[in-house]
Amino acid sequence: MSDTTSDTSDTVSGGPLDTSGAPIVGPCDAARCAAAGCVPTACVGAGLASNDEVFERSTRAIPGGVNSSIRAFSSVGGRPYSVASAEGAHVTDVEGRRYIDLVQSYGAVILGHAHPAVTAAVTTAAAAGTSYGAPTPREMRLAETIAAAVPSCEQVRFMNSGTEATSTAVRLARGATGRDRVVIFHGNFHGATDALLAAGGSGVATLGLPGTAGVPAGAVAETMVLPYNEVPELTDEVAAVIVEPVAANMGVIAPEPGFLAGLRAECDRVGAVLVFDEVITGFRLGRGGAQAREDVRPDLTTFGKVIGGGLPIGAVGGRRELMEHLSPLGPVFHAGTLAGNPIATAAGLAALDLLTDDVYIELMARARHLSAVLRDACASAGFAAQFPVVGTLVGIVCGDVPRPIDFDGAKRTDEAAYARFFHAMLGEGVAMAPGAYEAIFVGLAHTDDVIDRIGAAAERAARSAGGPPGG
Ligand SMILES: Cc1ncc(COP(=O)(O)O)c(C=O)c1O
Repeated sequence: MSDTTSDTSDTVSGGPLDTSGAPIVGPCDAARCAAAGCVPTACVGAGLASNDEVFERSTRAIPGGVNSSIRAFSSVGGRPYSVASAEGAHVTDVEGRRYIDLVQSYGAVILGHAHPAVTAAVTTAAAAGTSYGAPTPREMRLAETIAAAVPSCEQVRFMNSGTEATSTAVRLARGATGRDRVVIFHGNFHGATDALLAAGGSGVATLGLPGTAGVPAGAVAETMVLPYNEVPELTDEVAAVIVEPVAANMGVIAPEPGFLAGLRAECDRVGAVLVFDEVITGFRLGRGGAQAREDVRPDLTTFGKVIGGGLPIGAVGGRRELMEHLSPLGPVFHAGTLAGNPIATAAGLAALDLLTDDVYIELMARARHLSAVLRDACASAGFAAQFPVVGTLVGIVCGDVPRPIDFDGAKRTDEAAYARFFHAMLGEGVAMAPGAYEAIFVGLAHTDDVIDRIGAAAERAARSAGGPPGG
């Protein structure tokens, strides 16, 4: 690191100014930084002593030490490792420990970390400028690519996150229908969108909160939360039904036969907009996403994660006539300084170019393989757990419970057992998501050999995690 290091780090750590009583944490070790070729503007933590030190300092500079709640390990206990770098199926923490990574940026990464094609696209794009505030050919190409793969999406509008995509979809559906009511399903998660935080899966469920502070009653007054996998009878007050067509935030749960088609029929009957939230499933279950797999066409689709090749992105796609309600053509406002960002769209195009139908066939085989080795490992260790597979997605349900089909079933999972398994796996060098309801993300970098190593690690982990149910 350069000789400006200690100035920067002193400022970040609080150093001598800290009056909280907590131990004062020193700056980066300039000698170690320099030896590792680490510079402050691209700090990889080479000069920091440990994961604990990074977390300690992060908690002073960042609320809870994290920028997305789930990362804090609140639901599994302990402190997070801090990633210095990643490649393929692996992440390496600042202490130099290498883990097989089953988080894969919660599904944003599908080709493996630092895939050469994505890295090259990003590098080339960055050298031509990082953001312009004007239209670019790459946005056009990415929209065309999505439209060609997902027939329900005649047009696509880009933004910066899945959260922005779902909030835009809600606004668009309300603006287009002139109605306010929105129907969501218990255990589905649609990001940090106020109107959709009446209840949730993922981080919200993990923290055991019914909603969240800071969302005014008025923001969710028109939000109905209904059981997943049951077709509701809608009224003509409903603007939109928003659903994860394969649920992946309460474990991984497939739609029951007739559920999505039933939603389609009910929306048609009352004139409501059917929104499939494919932020996880889009370009992960196949090029056509869950809607191709389940053969049901929504009016709007939200995307994120994979379509950005691991960079920040979100998108709403849908029928032209509906999409044209968005500004500047229509009255429903949408704008974004970095929307359609040149680097994110370059990464997305690089990723989508490689995701051929054959790749998804391969990924499905890997998902089945991963599920099988985890199942066998747990069975042989006497650790009760199921690993449901839906296409390329793998879930985990700990405890001796029936396979869930909705949130009530998912909540029967033994969270304490998951926490023990999670930590035992980490000890064996396999990083899973620090939450019992997250999917296990397998990607192209998880070769059969890597999956077999996960299986061997899981058997040892399951033996040490075994214990009284719920204990
Ligand atoms: C189904 C679904 N929708 C929306 C989101 C929000 O996306 P983002 O985290 O990019 O805001 C998520 C995030 O995990 C998600 O799983």
